[in-house]
Amino acid sequence: MSKHPAEPFRIKMVEPIELIPRSQREKAMKEAGYNLFAIPAKDVYIDLLTDSGTGAMSQEQWSSIMLGDESYAGARSYFKLKSVMDEVFGFEYFVPTHQGRAAENILASLLVQPGSYIPSNMHFDTTEGNLRAAGGRPVNLINADAFDISKDVPFKGNMDTKKLENFIIEKKPENIPFGCITITNNAGGGQPVSYANIKEVASIYKKYSIPFFIDSCRFAENCYFIKMREPGFEDHSPLEIAKMIFSLSDGAWMSAKKDAIVNIGGFLAVNDENLFQDISNALILREGFPTYGGLAGRDLEALATGLIEGLQESYLAYRIGQTAYLSEKIKEKGVPIIEPPGGHAVYLDAGSLLPHISQSEFPGQALTAALYLEGGIRGVEIGSVMFAHPDPDTGEIIYPKLELVRLALPRRVYTQSHLDYVADTIEKIIEKRDAIGGYKITYQPKLMRHFTCRFEPA
Ligand SMILES: Cc1ncc(COP(=O)(O)O)c(C=O)c1O
Repeated sequence: MSKHPAEPFRIKMVEPIELIPRSQREKAMKEAGYNLFAIPAKDVYIDLLTDSGTGAMSQEQWSSIMLGDESYAGARSYFKLKSVMDEVFGFEYFVPTHQGRAAENILASLLVQPGSYIPSNMHFDTTEGNLRAAGGRPVNLINADAFDISKDVPFKGNMDTKKLENFIIEKKPENIPFGCITITNNAGGGQPVSYANIKEVASIYKKYSIPFFIDSCRFAENCYFIKMREPGFEDHSPLEIAKMIFSLSDGAWMSAKKDAIVNIGGFLAVNDENLFQDISNALILREGFPTYGGLAGRDLEALATGLIEGLQESYLAYRIGQTAYLSEKIKEKGVPIIEPPGGHAVYLDAGSLLPHISQSEFPGQALTAALYLEGGIRGVEIGSVMFAHPDPDTGEIIYPKLELVRLALPRRVYTQSHLDYVADTIEKIIEKRDAIGGYKITYQPKLMRHFTCRFEPA
């Protein structure tokens, strides 16, 4: 197979994009308080802020939209989604939600008590935010290789199972309402978790009677990595691997805006009937009736179609190949990235690219700002802006181990020439890197500050 397989589709509808002049980009940045989230999308040329909800739906998904049944209760579209959910995930019960964090919020509000611990390989920011908001303590027990940027190991998203078991013994199972694993590990580079690791994690949680949940946003990409990298899975389809993975867990949630290639949607699925009843009641208060969650019937249709498309091997080969292509181009320019490339994004090591900027002045933020100013490219900081937080016991600021910038690739949206442009822009930034300065925060909310905080140059 080709290293970077060509798109298994052709383009039938286009959306114009424009690179506005540098002076206008500078003005836009100032007005946005140097926070890329506050820049109007029309002022962005290549938008790699996120792969969430930004994918291009297929002709099959658009035609599914027309089949949407908008009945309040028991819509035909719900049953279509249910049959796909049964086929792929195999849980007893599920509810649709409007996106991933709605599922996290419901789960956290039902299961987390003040002081509860919730282990994972690495929680994503919205998961952390929801767990903390319920008084919980999210704990990341990723394997040590995850922090060695250049180490090329196949499953850098794996959980450290020794640490997990010791942690459970130390904190006691009764203080751990549920445990998780995130596939792929977005906060740590979009890195996959092996089947063997998921199985071991599941058996540890089971040994201590702790319910096991999978944050499954990018499960299809994870399954493809298992097929390509884990001995014994060569002849399994991504769908078969998915079934094997989810049969090990007690529940899962998903932001369907990722691997189901829809612009909105998610779900929360469980096997426990009592928990499902509680979830349904919470859902009715917050999202909607249990057969539609926060979605329209047409969204349920597109989601059902997208879940199956997102597992197609030709699509996954192209998708993972595209990320690998951008990674190679950027590496050729001499920028350290997390290796090997993950599934949905390239992660630039801003900490080592800009060593003159201390963590308290946000090297990742400085690099995202430079990418926009130089080339109208929007990425996202995944470093101290996102993750630094006060220790709940001492109040001392705990900084994350890595200062990264994530360039996430929307699904089926950008071509190879767009990716070449991104790599060329990065080359220009490297030439000027000594002149790039840090930032200080002038406004921040209490939780998930990276979305709305404002900066000025330090
Ligand atoms: C691993 C992971 N979990 C949860 C979420 C939250 O999903 P949503 O943005 O749909 O609320 C995301 C979103 O990026 C994610 O990457």
